[in-house]
Amino acid sequence: MKHLYDIKQLNAEQLNHLFSLADKIKTTAVTETKKWLAGKTAMALFFENSTRTLMSFQLAAQRLGMDFCALNIAHSSAQKGETLKDTLFTLNAMQSDAFIIRHSENHTQKQAAKWLGDQASVINAGDGTNQHPTQGLLDLYTIREHKKDFSQLKVAIIGDIKHSRVAGSLVDGLHILGNNNTWIYAPDELLPASTTARKAENMKQALSDADVVVMLRIQKERISQIDAEVLDHWHDNYGLNENNLEWAKKDAIVMHPGPMNRGVEISSAVADGPQSVILEQVRNGVLMRSALLYQLLSD
Ligand code: CP
Repeated sequence: MKHLYDIKQLNAEQLNHLFSLADKIKTTAVTETKKWLAGKTAMALFFENSTRTLMSFQLAAQRLGMDFCALNIAHSSAQKGETLKDTLFTLNAMQSDAFIIRHSENHTQKQAAKWLGDQASVINAGDGTNQHPTQGLLDLYTIREHKKDFSQLKVAIIGDIKHSRVAGSLVDGLHILGNNNTWIYAPDELLPASTTARKAENMKQALSDADVVVMLRIQKERISQIDAEVLDHWHDNYGLNENNLEWAKKDAIVMHPGPMNRGVEISSAVADGPQSVILEQVRNGVLMRSALLYQLLSD
Protein backbone atom coordinates (compact mmCIF):
# COMPACT_ATOMS: atom_id res chain seq x y z
CA MET A 1 0.00 0.00 0.00
CA LYS A 2 1.40 3.41 -1.01
CA HIS A 3 -1.25 5.81 0.34
CA LEU A 4 -3.82 5.98 3.15
CA TYR A 5 -6.78 8.22 2.44
CA ASP A 6 -9.61 6.05 3.84
CA ILE A 7 -9.60 3.48 6.66
CA LYS A 8 -11.72 1.23 4.41
CA GLN A 9 -8.56 0.58 2.36
CA LEU A 10 -7.47 -1.66 5.26
CA ASN A 11 -8.84 -5.11 6.11
CA ALA A 12 -8.84 -6.67 9.60
CA GLU A 13 -5.50 -8.39 9.02
CA GLN A 14 -3.85 -5.14 7.94
CA LEU A 15 -5.34 -3.26 10.90
CA ASN A 16 -4.05 -5.90 13.32
CA HIS A 17 -0.63 -5.79 11.66
CA LEU A 18 -0.50 -2.01 12.23
CA PHE A 19 -1.47 -2.52 15.90
CA SER A 20 1.35 -5.07 16.29
CA LEU A 21 3.79 -2.64 14.68
CA ALA A 22 2.70 0.04 17.16
CA ASP A 23 3.24 -2.46 20.01
CA LYS A 24 6.75 -3.10 18.68
CA ILE A 25 7.56 0.62 18.39
CA LYS A 26 6.31 1.12 21.95
CA THR A 27 8.83 -1.37 23.32
CA THR A 28 11.78 -0.43 21.10
CA ALA A 29 14.35 2.14 22.19
CA VAL A 30 14.07 5.45 20.33
CA THR A 31 17.79 5.22 19.52
CA GLU A 32 16.89 2.07 17.52
CA THR A 33 13.65 3.31 15.86
CA LYS A 34 15.48 6.44 14.69
CA LYS A 35 17.39 4.18 12.27
CA TRP A 36 14.28 2.70 10.68
CA LEU A 37 13.41 5.52 8.24
CA ALA A 38 16.57 7.64 8.52
CA GLY A 39 17.14 9.67 5.36
CA LYS A 40 13.43 9.81 4.44
CA THR A 41 11.36 13.01 4.47
CA ALA A 42 7.73 13.80 5.32
CA MET A 43 5.99 17.08 4.57
CA ALA A 44 2.78 18.25 6.24
CA LEU A 45 0.24 20.44 4.45
CA PHE A 46 -2.50 21.40 6.89
CA PHE A 47 -5.15 23.63 5.34
CA GLU A 48 -7.14 23.40 8.59
CA ASN A 49 -6.01 23.94 12.16
CA SER A 50 -4.59 21.12 14.27
CA THR A 51 -2.82 20.52 17.55
CA ARG A 52 -2.79 16.74 18.06
CA THR A 53 -2.55 15.40 14.52
CA LEU A 54 0.17 17.76 13.30
CA MET A 55 2.39 17.49 16.36
CA SER A 56 2.02 13.72 16.67
CA PHE A 57 2.87 13.19 13.00
CA GLN A 58 6.00 15.31 13.51
CA LEU A 59 7.02 13.30 16.57
CA ALA A 60 6.16 10.02 14.83
CA ALA A 61 8.33 10.89 11.83
CA GLN A 62 11.20 12.07 14.00
CA ARG A 63 11.09 8.93 16.15
CA LEU A 64 11.69 6.98 12.95
CA GLY A 65 14.64 9.20 12.05
CA MET A 66 12.82 11.11 9.29
CA ASP A 67 13.17 14.75 8.36
CA PHE A 68 9.84 16.54 8.81
CA CYS A 69 8.70 19.91 7.42
CA ALA A 70 5.29 21.52 7.89
CA LEU A 71 4.25 24.13 5.34
CA ASN A 72 2.77 27.20 7.01
CA ILE A 73 -0.25 27.46 4.72
CA ALA A 74 -1.19 30.97 5.92
CA HIS A 75 2.22 32.24 4.76
CA SER A 76 2.58 30.00 1.72
CA SER A 77 2.12 30.69 -1.98
CA ALA A 78 -1.30 29.05 -1.70
CA GLN A 79 -2.34 32.54 -0.54
CA LYS A 80 -1.15 33.89 -3.91
CA GLY A 81 -3.41 31.46 -5.74
CA GLU A 82 -1.09 28.50 -6.26
CA THR A 83 -3.19 25.39 -6.74
CA LEU A 84 -2.89 22.35 -4.51
CA LYS A 85 -1.62 20.32 -7.44
CA ASP A 86 1.14 22.85 -8.21
CA THR A 87 2.01 23.10 -4.50
CA LEU A 88 2.31 19.31 -4.28
CA PHE A 89 4.45 18.93 -7.37
CA THR A 90 6.65 21.84 -6.27
CA LEU A 91 7.29 20.19 -2.91
CA ASN A 92 7.64 16.79 -4.55
CA ALA A 93 10.48 18.22 -6.62
CA MET A 94 12.29 18.68 -3.29
CA GLN A 95 11.97 14.89 -2.93
CA SER A 96 9.60 14.23 -0.06
CA ASP A 97 8.68 10.59 0.56
CA ALA A 98 5.31 11.40 2.13
CA PHE A 99 2.75 14.18 2.14
CA ILE A 100 0.49 14.38 5.18
CA ILE A 101 -2.50 16.48 4.22
CA ARG A 102 -5.44 17.98 6.09
CA HIS A 103 -8.03 19.74 3.94
CA SER A 104 -11.59 21.04 4.26
CA GLU A 105 -12.73 19.44 0.98
CA ASN A 106 -13.80 15.78 1.08
CA HIS A 107 -11.61 13.37 -0.97
CA THR A 108 -8.75 15.85 -1.53
CA GLN A 109 -6.15 13.29 -0.41
CA LYS A 110 -7.52 10.60 -2.73
CA GLN A 111 -7.12 13.06 -5.59
CA ALA A 112 -3.59 13.96 -4.41
CA ALA A 113 -2.70 10.25 -4.31
CA LYS A 114 -3.87 9.90 -7.93
CA TRP A 115 -1.75 12.88 -8.98
CA LEU A 116 1.40 11.59 -7.26
CA GLY A 117 0.97 7.88 -8.02
CA ASP A 118 4.14 6.02 -7.00
CA GLN A 119 6.20 9.19 -6.57
CA ALA A 120 5.35 9.77 -2.88
CA SER A 121 2.89 8.56 -0.26
CA VAL A 122 -0.19 10.60 0.64
CA ILE A 123 -1.62 10.28 4.13
CA ASN A 124 -5.00 11.72 5.02
CA ALA A 125 -4.87 13.81 8.21
CA GLY A 126 -8.57 14.66 7.86
CA ASP A 127 -10.67 15.55 4.80
CA GLY A 128 -13.77 17.64 5.38
CA THR A 129 -16.56 15.57 6.88
CA ASN A 130 -15.35 12.35 5.29
CA GLN A 131 -12.44 10.50 6.92
CA HIS A 132 -9.70 10.88 9.53
CA PRO A 133 -8.13 7.45 9.18
CA THR A 134 -5.16 7.90 11.52
CA GLN A 135 -7.54 9.12 14.25
CA GLY A 136 -9.58 5.97 13.59
CA LEU A 137 -6.41 3.87 13.93
CA LEU A 138 -5.41 5.42 17.24
CA ASP A 139 -8.96 5.14 18.57
CA LEU A 140 -9.11 1.44 17.68
CA TYR A 141 -5.64 0.86 19.16
CA THR A 142 -6.75 2.54 22.40
CA ILE A 143 -9.90 0.40 22.58
CA ARG A 144 -7.80 -2.73 21.91
CA GLU A 145 -5.51 -1.86 24.84
CA HIS A 146 -8.48 -1.87 27.21
CA LYS A 147 -11.07 -4.23 25.73
CA LYS A 148 -9.41 -6.81 23.43
CA ASP A 149 -12.27 -8.45 21.49
CA PHE A 150 -13.96 -5.90 19.22
CA SER A 151 -16.80 -8.23 18.24
CA GLN A 152 -18.08 -8.40 21.85
CA LEU A 153 -18.22 -4.67 22.57
CA LYS A 154 -21.01 -2.16 22.68
CA VAL A 155 -19.65 1.17 21.45
CA ALA A 156 -21.67 4.40 21.81
CA ILE A 157 -20.69 7.41 19.69
CA ILE A 158 -22.55 10.56 20.68
CA GLY A 159 -22.49 14.08 19.23
CA ASP A 160 -22.25 15.64 15.80
CA ILE A 161 -21.87 12.42 13.82
CA LYS A 162 -22.85 13.89 10.45
CA HIS A 163 -19.94 16.33 10.25
CA SER A 164 -17.42 14.15 12.07
CA ARG A 165 -14.68 12.54 9.98
CA VAL A 166 -13.55 10.94 13.27
CA ALA A 167 -16.88 9.13 13.54
CA GLY A 168 -16.68 8.19 9.85
CA SER A 169 -13.33 6.41 10.28
CA LEU A 170 -14.14 4.89 13.68
CA VAL A 171 -17.50 3.42 12.61
CA ASP A 172 -15.85 1.96 9.48
CA GLY A 173 -12.90 0.59 11.47
CA LEU A 174 -15.12 -1.06 14.08
CA HIS A 175 -17.18 -2.65 11.30
CA ILE A 176 -14.01 -4.00 9.61
CA LEU A 177 -12.95 -5.54 12.95
CA GLY A 178 -16.25 -7.40 13.30
CA ASN A 179 -18.18 -5.11 15.62
CA ASN A 180 -21.92 -5.03 14.91
CA ASN A 181 -22.90 -3.24 18.10
CA THR A 182 -21.88 0.36 17.43
CA TRP A 183 -24.55 2.90 18.33
CA ILE A 184 -24.76 6.55 17.34
CA TYR A 185 -26.87 9.25 18.94
CA ALA A 186 -27.41 12.85 17.84
CA PRO A 187 -30.24 15.19 16.90
CA ASP A 188 -31.76 14.06 13.58
CA GLU A 189 -30.10 16.91 11.65
CA LEU A 190 -26.66 15.76 12.85
CA LEU A 191 -27.03 12.09 11.89
CA PRO A 192 -25.45 10.78 8.67
CA ALA A 193 -27.65 9.71 5.77
CA SER A 194 -26.15 6.23 5.73
CA THR A 195 -24.11 4.29 8.29
CA THR A 196 -23.32 0.74 9.40
CA ALA A 197 -23.99 1.86 13.02
CA ARG A 198 -27.31 1.56 14.86
CA LYS A 199 -29.22 4.76 15.61
CA ALA A 200 -30.22 5.17 19.26
CA GLU A 201 -33.54 6.80 20.19
CA ASN A 202 -32.16 8.51 23.27
CA MET A 203 -29.10 8.91 25.49
CA LYS A 204 -30.11 6.02 27.73
CA GLN A 205 -30.40 3.56 24.85
CA ALA A 206 -27.01 4.66 23.49
CA LEU A 207 -25.21 4.45 26.83
CA SER A 208 -26.85 1.45 28.49
CA ASP A 209 -24.27 -1.32 29.05
CA ALA A 210 -21.77 0.38 26.75
CA ASP A 211 -18.15 -0.76 26.98
CA VAL A 212 -16.83 2.26 25.11
CA VAL A 213 -18.30 5.78 25.03
CA VAL A 214 -17.00 8.22 22.41
CA MET A 215 -18.05 11.85 22.74
CA LEU A 216 -17.77 14.28 19.80
CA ARG A 217 -17.82 18.05 19.64
CA ILE A 218 -20.29 20.00 17.53
CA GLN A 219 -18.40 20.98 14.37
CA LYS A 220 -19.75 24.52 14.24
CA GLU A 221 -17.32 25.36 11.41
CA ARG A 222 -19.08 22.84 9.16
CA ILE A 223 -22.70 23.42 10.19
CA SER A 224 -24.73 25.76 8.02
CA GLN A 225 -27.90 25.58 10.05
CA ILE A 226 -28.75 24.19 13.46
CA ASP A 227 -31.57 25.06 15.77
CA ALA A 228 -30.28 27.51 18.43
CA GLU A 229 -32.49 25.69 20.96
CA VAL A 230 -30.61 22.46 20.27
CA LEU A 231 -27.27 24.17 20.89
CA ASP A 232 -28.48 25.92 24.05
CA HIS A 233 -29.56 22.64 25.61
CA TRP A 234 -26.79 20.45 24.18
CA HIS A 235 -25.30 19.30 27.46
CA ASP A 236 -28.70 18.45 28.95
CA ASN A 237 -29.67 16.31 25.97
CA TYR A 238 -26.44 15.06 24.38
CA GLY A 239 -23.73 15.67 27.00
CA LEU A 240 -21.92 13.06 29.09
CA ASN A 241 -21.70 13.59 32.82
CA GLU A 242 -21.17 11.50 35.97
CA ASN A 243 -24.91 10.74 36.21
CA ASN A 244 -25.65 9.38 32.74
CA LEU A 245 -22.26 7.63 32.53
CA GLU A 246 -23.68 5.29 35.20
CA TRP A 247 -25.88 3.73 32.47
CA ALA A 248 -22.73 2.38 30.84
CA LYS A 249 -20.79 -0.60 32.20
CA LYS A 250 -18.77 0.09 35.35
CA ASP A 251 -15.53 -0.49 33.45
CA ALA A 252 -16.55 1.49 30.37
CA ILE A 253 -13.88 3.72 28.90
CA VAL A 254 -14.62 7.30 27.84
CA MET A 255 -13.00 8.67 24.69
CA HIS A 256 -12.92 12.00 22.89
CA PRO A 257 -10.75 12.84 19.85
CA GLY A 258 -10.31 16.43 21.00
CA PRO A 259 -10.51 19.33 21.04
CA MET A 260 -13.11 19.12 23.82
CA ASN A 261 -15.78 21.64 24.66
CA ARG A 262 -15.92 21.10 28.41
CA GLY A 263 -19.40 21.50 29.81
CA VAL A 264 -20.96 21.02 26.37
CA GLU A 265 -20.50 17.45 25.07
CA ILE A 266 -18.58 16.30 28.15
CA SER A 267 -18.33 17.46 31.76
CA SER A 268 -14.90 18.12 33.24
CA ALA A 269 -15.61 15.54 35.96
CA VAL A 270 -15.87 12.84 33.28
CA ALA A 271 -13.14 14.19 30.98
CA ASP A 272 -10.67 14.16 33.87
CA GLY A 273 -12.22 11.18 35.66
CA PRO A 274 -11.02 7.61 36.18
CA GLN A 275 -12.78 6.20 33.11
CA SER A 276 -11.33 8.75 30.71
CA VAL A 277 -8.67 7.52 28.25
CA ILE A 278 -8.56 10.81 26.35
CA LEU A 279 -4.87 11.48 26.99
CA GLU A 280 -4.04 7.82 26.20
CA GLN A 281 -5.61 8.44 22.78
CA VAL A 282 -3.23 11.36 22.31
CA ARG A 283 -0.21 9.27 23.36
CA ASN A 284 -1.27 6.41 21.09
CA GLY A 285 -1.52 8.87 18.19
CA VAL A 286 2.28 9.10 18.06
CA LEU A 287 2.62 5.29 18.10
CA MET A 288 -0.01 4.59 15.46
CA ARG A 289 1.26 7.31 13.15
CA SER A 290 4.79 5.91 13.53
CA ALA A 291 3.45 2.46 12.66
CA LEU A 292 1.67 3.80 9.58
CA LEU A 293 4.70 5.77 8.35
CA TYR A 294 6.87 2.69 8.78
CA GLN A 295 4.36 0.48 6.96
CA LEU A 296 4.05 2.87 4.02
CA LEU A 297 7.68 3.96 3.68
CA SER A 298 9.90 1.02 4.63
CA ASP A 299 11.24 -0.72 1.52
N1 CP B 1 -8.37 14.86 16.86
C1 CP B 1 -7.80 15.79 16.06
O1 CP B 1 -7.79 15.67 14.82
O2 CP B 1 -7.27 16.86 16.72
P1 CP B 1 -6.53 18.08 16.04
O3 CP B 1 -7.55 18.83 15.22
O4 CP B 1 -5.97 18.88 17.18
O5 CP B 1 -5.44 17.53 15.14
